[in-house]
Amino acid sequence: MSPCPVLMAAAFPIANTSSVLPLHRNVFRSDFSPEITSNGRHSLSTSYTHVNPRQRRGHILCQSASTEKPKSRRNLLDNASNLLTNLLSGSSIGSMPVAEGAVSDLFSRPLFLSLYDWFLEHGAVYKLAFGPKAFVVVSDPIVTKHILKENAFAYDKGVLADILEPIMGKGLIPADLGTWKQRRRVIAPGFHSLYLEAMTKIFTDCAEKTILKFEKLLEGVHGLNPIELDLEAEFSSLALDIIGLGIFNYDFGSIQKESPIIKAVYGTLSEAEHRSTFYIPYWKFPLARWVVPRQRKFQEDLTVINSCLDGLIKNAKETRRETDVEKLQQRDYLNLKDGSLLRFLVDMRGADVDDRQLRDDLMTMLIAGHETTAAVLTWAVFLLTQNPLKMRKAQSEIDAVIGQGSTTYESLRRLEYIRLIVVEALRLYPQPPLLIRRSLKSDLLPGGYMGQKDGYSIPPGTDIFISVYNLHRSPYFWDHPDDFEPERFLVQRKIEDIEGWAGFDPARSPGALYPNEVISDFSFLPFGGGPRKCIGDQFALMESTIALAMLLQKFDVELKGPPESVELVTGATIHTKNGLWCKLRKRINDQQHLIRLINRWYKRGC
Ligand code: HEM
Repeated sequence: MSPCPVLMAAAFPIANTSSVLPLHRNVFRSDFSPEITSNGRHSLSTSYTHVNPRQRRGHILCQSASTEKPKSRRNLLDNASNLLTNLLSGSSIGSMPVAEGAVSDLFSRPLFLSLYDWFLEHGAVYKLAFGPKAFVVVSDPIVTKHILKENAFAYDKGVLADILEPIMGKGLIPADLGTWKQRRRVIAPGFHSLYLEAMTKIFTDCAEKTILKFEKLLEGVHGLNPIELDLEAEFSSLALDIIGLGIFNYDFGSIQKESPIIKAVYGTLSEAEHRSTFYIPYWKFPLARWVVPRQRKFQEDLTVINSCLDGLIKNAKETRRETDVEKLQQRDYLNLKDGSLLRFLVDMRGADVDDRQLRDDLMTMLIAGHETTAAVLTWAVFLLTQNPLKMRKAQSEIDAVIGQGSTTYESLRRLEYIRLIVVEALRLYPQPPLLIRRSLKSDLLPGGYMGQKDGYSIPPGTDIFISVYNLHRSPYFWDHPDDFEPERFLVQRKIEDIEGWAGFDPARSPGALYPNEVISDFSFLPFGGGPRKCIGDQFALMESTIALAMLLQKFDVELKGPPESVELVTGATIHTKNGLWCKLRKRINDQQHLIRLINRWYKRGC
């Protein structure tokens, strides 16, 4: 079934228009106190009194275009859309609160921001009437746990699979259940501890190349003057090189240069984003791939990537050394010439697989693991630049743990504050901000916190958005949810009156380097949860920690413009519209730093 245009726009997790809207509209919210509404539910006051954000510790600024209340007036299109929803499907999804989405919202701001406003207004499980279809929006950890873990196989990826299939084929993300079960069993063991340890060397080597590049650029400027760089683009190149080497032992070399294959990778990513945000799936029309220039280009890009991957697969198969999984996991990864995941998959005894499937697996990981990691680094830096004291704290930790040396697998454990910064960036900017599911059979969702006692029954075919963004900023589960407070993850948190939620307790996952959905009982899930949880979570977290530590070890970073000038767009990830332009200087000592801070405050008139 092909998704309807409006549904397409609303449905993809990632589906959102480019936006010049405030990422943190709540910067202007002065009051988070829960209120009881007419239907007896708790809701939050959403008064938008302007407060000086600098008065609030840890608070983050971003592009802010408006201080107005969310618009409530609908236009003709909105009314027609809601009527259509009610006629076609509105009554089929149980008795949950209904948010009648203004279709016009789709054109003006990222969907996930509107979902947040409606969450505060209607509660943590509500029905969103949008166009000819209704969606259930979930922002509650208890309900999320049910969908992702307890009854996971009663759901598939719905419209997400439709969009990604032409790019990822039968890779893990869009794969049908049968293929997914078989491939997940084979791929998951590939991310074993010796592999991850060896990867830290790749992360460090690639980050070093990036640092060297910056140092060279700095040599060209006078004295303590900074260089200006789009760090988002730099992180993107870094993440691409890392994923190429780690997953299929291919050096894109994108930190230093551009090549046809790199262009093709970016072209493919951009097409995935285009498809997720375009209203009519015109690429499905016969002849579109030959007639429409951007579709022709997309086919050409796919051909370039596929032939590169095919070559790597052929090469790996020709040099196959078949062995058991246990033996594969014990190889001397630190000294192997090729310790990539592709090598592991090809060498695994009994896991013979056709080239097409392997190509889909690699393509999926290339796309899933590249932009996401670059986005984490981008937002971590963005957050730190607005919190110079936290930046100093991070740098002090780096000095104490690695000094002028390199990061290693062992040092990761001691870089606690950097790890917390990475997860806090993921809390505030989850990638992607929404997860998508479609029910395969009827189900009874739990009521969750403050929801309907008897839960909500849903029919087969119900489309669901799990808003990770809402979960991560839920005022019911987090103190000061919009503040940048990496330290929050160190505190155990149990809210006695939330039945069915076990609280936030690091002791539940002893030895874990990073907080996860187990520790938070599904109130923090940057990598999803349950059987379809991200397979590369540790890879990505370690990579981000190392890259961030190495950047801060050498440089002081400042935003080039005001934080409000950083415009937000969402595709597969939340990213910036025009790059994260920063000023980089060689690190200075504490005394020089203090003088610089005072000067800066003085200039701002604080
Ligand atoms: C910070 C970086 C990353 C973030 C935030 C992230 C996030 C996620 C999330 C939320 C999911 C679950 C999607 C769902 O339930 O619908 C997922 C799945 C997945 N991720 Fe990641 N990811 C990251 C990095 C990576 C890396 C580095 C790789 C590979 C090396 C990877 C490979 C995958 C795959 C294959 C799946 C599908 C798993 C399955 O369905 O079995 N991801 N990721």
